Amino acid sequence: MAASRRIIYVTSALPYANGDLHIGHLLEQIQTDIWVRYQRLRGELCLYGCADDGHGSPMMLKAEQLGVTPEALIADMKERHERDSQDFLISHDVYHTTHSDENRHYAETIFERLSAAGYIYTERVEQLFDPEKKMFLADRFLKGNCPRCGADDQYGDNCEKCGATYEANELVNPRSILSGATPELRTSTHYFFDLPKLQGFLEQWTTSGTLQNEVANKIREWLTAGLQAWDISRDAPYFGFLIPGTEDKYFYVWLDAPIGYMAALEHLVAKGGAPVTFEQIWAPDSTAEVHHFIGKDIVNFHTLFWPAMLHAAGYRTPTKVHTHGFLTVDGTKMSKTRGTFINARTYLNHLDPEYLRYYFAAKLGPTTDDIDLSLDDFVARVNSDLVGKVVNIASRCAGFIHKGHDGMLAADCADTELWQAFADTGERLAPLFESGEFNKAVREIMALADRANQYIDTHKPWALAKEPGREAEVQAVCTLGLNLFRVLMVYLKPILPRMAQQAEAFLRVEPLQWSDAASWLGGHAIAPFAALKQRVDPKAVAAMIEAGKAQEPAKEPVKEAATAAIPGQSPLPREDEAAVIGIDDFTKVDLRVARVIEASRVDGADKLLQLRLDVGELGERTVFSGIRSAYEPEALTGRLVVLVANLAPRKMRFGTSEGMVLAAGEGKDIFLVAPDPDAQPGMPVR
Ligand code: MSP
Ligand code: ZN
Repeated sequence: MAASRRIIYVTSALPYANGDLHIGHLLEQIQTDIWVRYQRLRGELCLYGCADDGHGSPMMLKAEQLGVTPEALIADMKERHERDSQDFLISHDVYHTTHSDENRHYAETIFERLSAAGYIYTERVEQLFDPEKKMFLADRFLKGNCPRCGADDQYGDNCEKCGATYEANELVNPRSILSGATPELRTSTHYFFDLPKLQGFLEQWTTSGTLQNEVANKIREWLTAGLQAWDISRDAPYFGFLIPGTEDKYFYVWLDAPIGYMAALEHLVAKGGAPVTFEQIWAPDSTAEVHHFIGKDIVNFHTLFWPAMLHAAGYRTPTKVHTHGFLTVDGTKMSKTRGTFINARTYLNHLDPEYLRYYFAAKLGPTTDDIDLSLDDFVARVNSDLVGKVVNIASRCAGFIHKGHDGMLAADCADTELWQAFADTGERLAPLFESGEFNKAVREIMALADRANQYIDTHKPWALAKEPGREAEVQAVCTLGLNLFRVLMVYLKPILPRMAQQAEAFLRVEPLQWSDAASWLGGHAIAPFAALKQRVDPKAVAAMIEAGKAQEPAKEPVKEAATAAIPGQSPLPREDEAAVIGIDDFTKVDLRVARVIEASRVDGADKLLQLRLDVGELGERTVFSGIRSAYEPEALTGRLVVLVANLAPRKMRFGTSEGMVLAAGEGKDIFLVAPDPDAQPGMPVR
């Protein structure tokens, strides 16, 4: 056994240290954590490392804005991130920071090895410079008119109006978004990593089972288009590590960020937290496994630059990169105005973390498809599966074991065939967990839960208990029921570690291992049953969404464009572009002309207005609408609007919203969509 134990180092992408974690980050950490816990449950040595990504201009600017040092900013953020992750039961063995001695050491080592091997060269680069801030400007800090179509207010890398991509210095009337100053073109020396030299290696590595097929295909397109050298330096002022031998050149944040995976492991080993050495994991001939879990927006860094760096610097390369899609909420991109940009802490203030862990598990597959958190489905699924099926088995059986049998389980199994079917399912579930097909695993586990409930329904211990002389049968049925429950908790343990712990306490057993699914628990005393999970209260979900709306918009960290090495190719899209739907989907939406009868402010909700609407043949409707920042209620009376009339009513703290009115924009710039004045209330809108 010991000889065949796998040694596995697993990471999630390192969150930027200039904003709080949100449930999109948690999708990734939960996915990783389920995989990690599964491996540990199987008896493998599985170490889980993560860290904050602390470097880059966004950290520097954010700290400046807050009037603190970048060090103070990232230290504070790290604590917040760690607390959020822990409260979601994420089982990191180490949570480090890229702004650490270990990381500096490995960044310098790798740079020096790459230099010595001839992979680094310098070149003069022309770049726009902000004369007021006295710094070179990344594309995202520049705006101006598109050089192709002339649209104003476009970023320095591409035009959102016409789709053109261009160099920042081609912008017409460029300005710095930091100071508003007109930037100047200046030249400076940059360091480059000579990626084209590693084309052959990358062609081989990316097609050797390290990537999901769809990712490998995307990378093949990029490789066919040809690689360019990667610019790995940034000029002062910058928050990061100085490049050895220079006084004003820093490593670009994306150079030292993945090296943070190594630094985190080094930190873990140094503090005595892992029975491995750094070399055992990272040496070129290591037999250990390294698995990275990432989102699809950062694929190029992890499947091109990172393996190339490792290979060229004489380290081992990752065993697998697991790429997931983006989280949407109720079918659309997370949005602050809709209250669906849900911070980890906001969620935790209202709901049990295991609900979300279960829901994500039920949806996560091995592809890069986006994952939708549909709030109604979330409530329904958690309640019907976790509470209605799994907990139900235990709660139906426990009482009878205590009542006539002093909490003692029967010795023998009353239906070995059923029992064996449960134990055997482990062999089918294992490969599903291994390959990230958690959705399929959950489906199989819930099918077992259904069988367990059917068994109890058929044997009706509550009826047997009323018939004298049948005590032993009651005990046998409930013993089997509880054993089936125990097997389910083994399989669910990677997903629901806290509930599994509660089940262990209830069953009075040692921490469950995967192999326990095959062992029978008989002639054993259990503890009194305490409810393992409450139902999700839809009111708590509504309150969370309201709190999300109230929350200070935690600006998403500015990402520097990731396309330097791939001409004409953008990374897999990060923003979930509107999903394509068929006409059938569209016609499901019942849009109606409505007239505002009355609009009023809502006490305690400064973003909302309460609208009383006349919808003609559909009667009157009350709608709460987040348009308060742009409209005075008095101005709305008599106005025509467009109502989504068949939206499920939504209970809010202030009353029930019976639909939604259409508006464009966000924040102060909200514009109600209005039919021409002759339209009649109730008319369908097509
Ligand atoms: N700092 C870089 C990663 C460096 S790894 C060496 C970064 N940070 S991030 O905070 O923007 O994102 C961290 C991870 O969270 C990424 O894998 C990203 O894809 C993931 N997600 C961020 N928003 C997400 C969603 N809305 N949905 C799913 N994953 C999301 O990128
Ligand atoms: Zn344009």
